[in-house]
Amino acid sequence: MKLIRFTFFVCCVVLGFTNVYGGPLLDKFRSNQQQKLQEFGKTNLGEFSGHIFYPFGGPDVTYPLLMFPEFKDLTLMGLEPAEAPESVEVKLDNGALSNLSSLYKRSFFITDQMVSGVRNVAALILKQLENLGATDITVKAIACRDNAVEFRFMLNGTERTIRYYKAGLDNSQIDIDFLKSLGPINVVFFKAASYLPHQKNFSKFRGFVLENVANFVQDSTGVPYEYLKDNFDLTLHGKYLKPYKFPGGFEQLSFRKYSEELNKQELSFSFGYGGGFVPTNILVAKRKSEVSF
Ligand SMILES: C[S@@+](CC[C@H](N)C(=O)[O-])C[C@H]1O[C@@H](n2cnc3c(N)ncnc32)[C@H](O)[C@@H]1O
Repeated sequence: MKLIRFTFFVCCVVLGFTNVYGGPLLDKFRSNQQQKLQEFGKTNLGEFSGHIFYPFGGPDVTYPLLMFPEFKDLTLMGLEPAEAPESVEVKLDNGALSNLSSLYKRSFFITDQMVSGVRNVAALILKQLENLGATDITVKAIACRDNAVEFRFMLNGTERTIRYYKAGLDNSQIDIDFLKSLGPINVVFFKAASYLPHQKNFSKFRGFVLENVANFVQDSTGVPYEYLKDNFDLTLHGKYLKPYKFPGGFEQLSFRKYSEELNKQELSFSFGYGGGFVPTNILVAKRKSEVSF
């Protein structure tokens, strides 16, 4: 009996702690990061409207919503499952809450933690929309595709749409016709993409974005500098030194040299990997007008 009571007590403490865990981190995110991300977006990304594609985005709607003040449509992809809930008012379970805490604390979701902790990306997206103050939210399943959910809402006086698709983008799973069916993409956005666009096994995906998208906004986990430097006009914010200790991240020596020559200030907010060990950066790449698709 004593053991049962003790186990019950421990469970209550652990669950109670985990439940409030998202709260203080969200407050800290709001006071330390949110305004800086919005200011960065207004100053540097205000020209990008229309359709933003965020591959390897998983459930992260917070960063694109704060950073791209003008966007109307956002397409997110990841490997996590998604299902339209019956109501837009969701209560997150502890697994989902601790994953959301990671976004507010580190600036990104962790793939391995999502495998066990995220049963429905849609719930995590709805919670972020609520935290950002979105109104008039509707949610529905996208027809003829599993694990595909559409959100419509108002934010800062603009009506916006977000679509999430569970979709593998490596060479063995990628469906280029499906990507083409998403319509014209104005900007591709990469943050904490596990350095997947660097890898051989993502060459078809890399080819697709390089051929079809005119603007890239990314940290150094996105498409390597070498693929962009000749055909795109580049603006670097922050510094690139080396990849964060992460399997699959290649040293980009020419990018490092370019960054050292520019010698920009470090970013004043968190954006993807780095964790205080390596400086982070945002590269804005715009296809040169004389280069056609
Ligand atoms: C580290 S998480 C980062 C998520 C988001 N970019 C962020 O900053 O919070 C990496 C994402 O890449 C997705 N991913 C991993 N392998 C993938 C693959 N083969 N195809 C498509 N997405 C993949 C994961 O499912 C996850 O959503």
